Amino acid sequence: MIKAENLVKQFGSSRAVSNISFQVKEGENLILLGTSGCGKTTTLRMINRLIEPDSGSIFLNGVDIRTQQPEILRRGIGYVLQNHGLFPHYTVAENIAIVPRLLKWDTETIRKRADELFDKLKLDAALKDKYPTALSGGQQQRVGLARSLMVNPPVLLMDEPFGALDNLTRINIRKEFRMLDELVKKTIIMVTHDVQEAFEMGDRICLMDKGEIQQIGTPEELLFHPANDFVSDFLNEQRLQLEFKSVLLKEVLPEVEEDLSVWDKMEALLQNKNSQSDEVTLDQLMGAFSRFKKQNNG
Ligand SMILES: Nc1ncnc2c1ncn2[C@@H]1O[C@H](COP(=O)(O)OP(=O)(O)OP(=O)(O)O)[C@@H](O)[C@H]1O
Ligand SMILES: [Mg+2]
Repeated sequence: MIKAENLVKQFGSSRAVSNISFQVKEGENLILLGTSGCGKTTTLRMINRLIEPDSGSIFLNGVDIRTQQPEILRRGIGYVLQNHGLFPHYTVAENIAIVPRLLKWDTETIRKRADELFDKLKLDAALKDKYPTALSGGQQQRVGLARSLMVNPPVLLMDEPFGALDNLTRINIRKEFRMLDELVKKTIIMVTHDVQEAFEMGDRICLMDKGEIQQIGTPEELLFHPANDFVSDFLNEQRLQLEFKSVLLKEVLPEVEEDLSVWDKMEALLQNKNSQSDEVTLDQLMGAFSRFKKQNNG
């Protein structure tokens, strides 16, 4: 669906992105992960032509994006900016109506779609008449997402979509987003510097450093088969929790059918401490996880 080949971008004498290549399949969620300044935003903005690479190519459904007018290209690509990017002098309703208006949607269609998204994103309809500065950080972030989803683009680029939020709000919003039907089928490239977030939300993770890809793979591949010391060092501090998040319950307990990570199951078990109905206890789960780890770490 999206194919980036040998992207290079230089700003003056400093190289923001050197020779980056990756592919994203339809419906996949690829995370660009890395510390501040490693080139994540630059990479993302080349995909919707807000930045033109010095060399290299990007193909969307096999078509070189340079052959398309940027305005037309961007209609099929939703973009959630770092720090939400809402226009302060427009109301929320005006902000989210910008692209639909360009596409000549009538007022009623815009209103219906906005109501639908507000409902799904748990935003109070009364916020529509307010200006972005009157909203909390979490509300602004949700409005930013609503705006990017209005015309239902098949591709979504998200730059630190939860960046402005406190840790607890982040964790909760992340969970909601993972289950949001509007996002499940989309092809998503999401930027974050938060390792836990990357492991919860990504089908695959592209770990970058100084403008280069260090490794691109599934969370499990990065954890259990790191390409180099940078990758293993980057993950080491939070390794145990990441392992719980990346390993699926059915990998450690094949007889259990549930489609959850070990982490999700641990949380569920802790929340229903007294329930007798579960077929597995926390102790059994931990035992099975240790056996799984022994097999995988050799
Ligand atoms: N317009 C620009 N002009 C000059 N240098 C730039 C420009 N945009 C980015 N850079 C530089 O390119 C490098 C990569 O920037 P980029 O914004 O892609 O990083 P990032 O990984 O998104 O960082 P952060 O996590 O802080 O958002 C940085 O060193 C940055 O200073
Ligand atoms: Mg950035």
